[in-house]
Amino acid sequence: MRLIASATLLALAAMAAAPAGAQDVSAGERSWNKCRACHQIGEGAKNLVGPHLNGLFGRHTGEVEGYSYSTANKGANITWDEAVFAEYIRDPKAKIPGT
Ligand code: HEC
Repeated sequence: MRLIASATLLALAAMAAAPAGAQDVSAGERSWNKCRACHQIGEGAKNLVGPHLNGLFGRHTGEVEGYSYSTANKGANITWDEAVFAEYIRDPKAKIPGT
């Protein structure tokens, strides 16, 4: 019985030690590296080649002040949420033709 209990503990400890969270973060960082040439996010973010992405979810397409969007983006009539964004980022031109 004691043996089984400590085996379970060991397994749990091994799971807890696996840095799943850290892996997710670095995967996110790697993905973000593909965007940062054109987009900023966070405090003081500015429009670059693309608009800043602060407060994206809940925001409407073409809404960032001072950014000159394409007519396609402005006319897209999309409100960003996680599902729409996931679809868009797979193939922006399919989701918003002309962007
Ligand atoms: C080569 C430059 C470039 C890269 C790289 C890029 N974008 Fe963009 N992005 C743009 C431009 C330009 C627009 C505006 C498009 C328009 O007006 O039609 C835009 C628009 C967007 C929008 C719509 C914003 C709005 O306010 O409607 C989102 C969301 C977005 N990009 C996310 C991303 C993400 C996430 C990545 C990385 C995976 C990325 N972009 C990579 C240039 C880029």
